[in-house]
Amino acid sequence: MPSKYDVLVIGGLGHIGLPLGLVFADQGLQVALYDINLEFREIVRGGKMPFHEDGADELLAKYNAKNLHVVDDISAIQDAETLFITIGTPLDGYLNPRIEPLLKLVDAMKPYLRDEHLIILRSTVIPGTTDLLSDIVGKSVKADVSFCPERVVQGKMIQEMETLPQIISGCTASAVKRARALFDLLGVQQIETRPKEAEFAKLYCNAWRYITFAAANQFYMLAEQEGLDFGRIQHAMTHEYTRMRDFPSPGFAAGPCLMKDTMQLAAFARRSFEMGQAAMFVNEGLAAFAVDKLAEKCGGSLVGKRVGILGMSFKSGSDDIRDSLSYKLRKLLRGHGADLRCTDEYVMVDPELVPLEEVTQWAEGIIVGTPHPAYRDLKIQENTAVVDVWGITNKG
Ligand SMILES: NC(=O)c1ccc[n+]([C@@H]2O[C@H](COP(=O)([O-])OP(=O)(O)OC[C@H]3O[C@@H](n4cnc5c(N)ncnc54)[C@H](O)[C@@H]3O)[C@@H](O)[C@H]2O)c1
Repeated sequence: MPSKYDVLVIGGLGHIGLPLGLVFADQGLQVALYDINLEFREIVRGGKMPFHEDGADELLAKYNAKNLHVVDDISAIQDAETLFITIGTPLDGYLNPRIEPLLKLVDAMKPYLRDEHLIILRSTVIPGTTDLLSDIVGKSVKADVSFCPERVVQGKMIQEMETLPQIISGCTASAVKRARALFDLLGVQQIETRPKEAEFAKLYCNAWRYITFAAANQFYMLAEQEGLDFGRIQHAMTHEYTRMRDFPSPGFAAGPCLMKDTMQLAAFARRSFEMGQAAMFVNEGLAAFAVDKLAEKCGGSLVGKRVGILGMSFKSGSDDIRDSLSYKLRKLLRGHGADLRCTDEYVMVDPELVPLEEVTQWAEGIIVGTPHPAYRDLKIQENTAVVDVWGITNKG
């Protein structure tokens, strides 16, 4: 008998799981979403996206309760053919990957697993996790286990899922064949690897980006320490010089993935991933550098100074504040005794935020936390000190 659901996404209301479910629903599959977040279950059932993702509102309105179903119980596994796992894979307080949530999930799944199931791990994991998952599952059933990592960028997930090449791996030939058949629906190129190669490929992509951002940030700090305007140097380096085409602009390298995945690789390498670790020091250190620079511009001390942070999400145009360095900035500035007001027109979850004009008209000093487009033509008082590592405002 065919399954009630073609696909069940576990972690299905998260930033990866929900767009994935929407994209497969759009391909005509019956998709179930299971998530432990009760609030998000109600929001999505009510036809609303719990976070912004381009194109998602339209797809949700079209498919909600038709071929996209939020389910309340993990026993829905019994009614599904393919099980995607997209739960978070966070670090602990000592920057070690936390594997327990995944292991606990697999324990909870076990009573409902059948030999016929295809399990596709899509969370980003340390190398060896897919084989471990296959071994654990294999003690009870002969289900196929695959790892097909997600490489899309938040905000553009729906569009990118249907255009970016998909890395496919599996612990058995039939896992690979079945995962291929599923992603064939999206019409994207497929790149087949072994599970551990796929796990490395995904982590290398994020670590590479994190390291390149660190290089730009280190260059920025060196130049600025010398009293130079890095924007001018960057222009000189890159203008019509194709070898420097990929040089990124300096800026706060933050968010839920880049540092986390670089540290997953460091943990896997038993703490000897020097380049990744150095990148973390540089990228995280940029927040303290910006605060020191503002203090210097404000006469040496921030005690009692009226300071504003523009942009609290972790990247431009996003409402996501997870692991945003703007919050580290806020903590550091409070530690320096500054009086603070913060703003972000995209972020709805922080009751402390105030409108942009309230910050720009009030502040003596400003740090640009996120390069939102609205800050490009920023109108601020002439004597306001500005630190803008992104170079978006042309004011500091
Ligand atoms: N966000 C990105 O841009 C991105 C890109 C590529 C890969 N990834 C990876 O994808 C994974 C998920 O990331 P995310 O950004 O979607 O995280 P997220 O926190 O937005 O989503 C994870 C979801 O899993 C749910 N969840 C946790 N434990 C669960 C359980 N036991 N059963 C059911 N649901 C559970 C949470 O409630 C949450 O809704 C991570 O491994 C991440 O590194 C993320």
